[in-house]
Amino acid sequence: MKIAVNTGGGDAPGLNAVLRAVVNSAASRGWHVYGVRDGYNGFFRPGGVHPLTTDMVRGITGLGGTILGTAISGSPFEFPREGEVVDISDEVVRGFYEQGFDAFIAIGGDGSFRLAKQFMDKGIPIVCVPKTIDNDVNGTHVTFGFQTAVATATECLDKLHSHAESHRRAMCVEVMGRYCGWIALHSGIAATADVILIPEIPYDLDAVCAKIERRYTAGRTFAICVIAEGAHPAGGGMMTLGTKEQGREVRLGGIADHVAEEIRSRTGVETRSLSLGHLLRGGHPTAYDRVLSLQYGAAAVRAIELGKFGSMVAFDPPDMVFKPVDEGIEVTKSVPLDSEVIRCAREMGICLGD
Ligand code: F6P
Repeated sequence: MKIAVNTGGGDAPGLNAVLRAVVNSAASRGWHVYGVRDGYNGFFRPGGVHPLTTDMVRGITGLGGTILGTAISGSPFEFPREGEVVDISDEVVRGFYEQGFDAFIAIGGDGSFRLAKQFMDKGIPIVCVPKTIDNDVNGTHVTFGFQTAVATATECLDKLHSHAESHRRAMCVEVMGRYCGWIALHSGIAATADVILIPEIPYDLDAVCAKIERRYTAGRTFAICVIAEGAHPAGGGMMTLGTKEQGREVRLGGIADHVAEEIRSRTGVETRSLSLGHLLRGGHPTAYDRVLSLQYGAAAVRAIELGKFGSMVAFDPPDMVFKPVDEGIEVTKSVPLDSEVIRCAREMGICLGD
């Protein structure tokens, strides 16, 4: 069995651990794995597809990023070439069969899954592995990378406490998460934030400012507000950055600056804002994410052995199971408003903006 594997979309801690598990699990069956560089781009670039041996993946379990590189833009179905947008997907299909591959493992988020689906429709036998720090892939309990992103955000928020307290400031901290508030909610609770704003609960600035004023009146003269990049006011839209590039999702950002300015002008409290941005995608995966990633990778090879093409590996604790990839892309996994974690935040006295 000859397997091709790629990593697509934004990087996430744990990608290398998945690759290691894929290579080692395949090797234990006498199978061979080849890495495709930079998403699917390796298929139409000399040297872009190369063997991944057990030696090459030694020691990478705890390494951030992806040794294969990734590609966010330039879907082979809408590829920018010589000033034009062309469909070069058949070059990928040809490359796959000419090089004698039997199966493909696509590690990525919902965008990569959609792409994989298009290649499945062209006959390529694919198994998908869900990856994203945002934890927004439907059908799986948790994606690898999420826990590390939450740990990094929590550490940063912890550090901001002493600063906020010394300067009597309200700190507004923006975190990634796209259209979902998983990272904001979990890191905010872990770091005992005062306000957490998530896309799932459109916020009311009066409620946010009232919370800050109550706190200052009670003698706690600083505040920590964690704001998901997709947070938005009731009746208002999400804030975006720059112009949308072809084949890319629009970039979200700027909401923490806006909320900080509103808090300052409405309450008179001095505020500062910052965005943790891509820091949350970097660094070594936590032990939990390493183990999770290794399980995802090993299960992907098992899926191939069982002929479960067209499926994604899903974590259904304590098991890894196989579900149709459509389940991963049909909806985004938002934070359920009736969940225990939301109830917990409210019972801890955290203002969720409503
Ligand atoms: O999906 C992961 C993610 O980090 C989102 O949280 C964020 O909105 C986006 O990627 C940013 O992507 P880029 O790499 O284009 O800045």
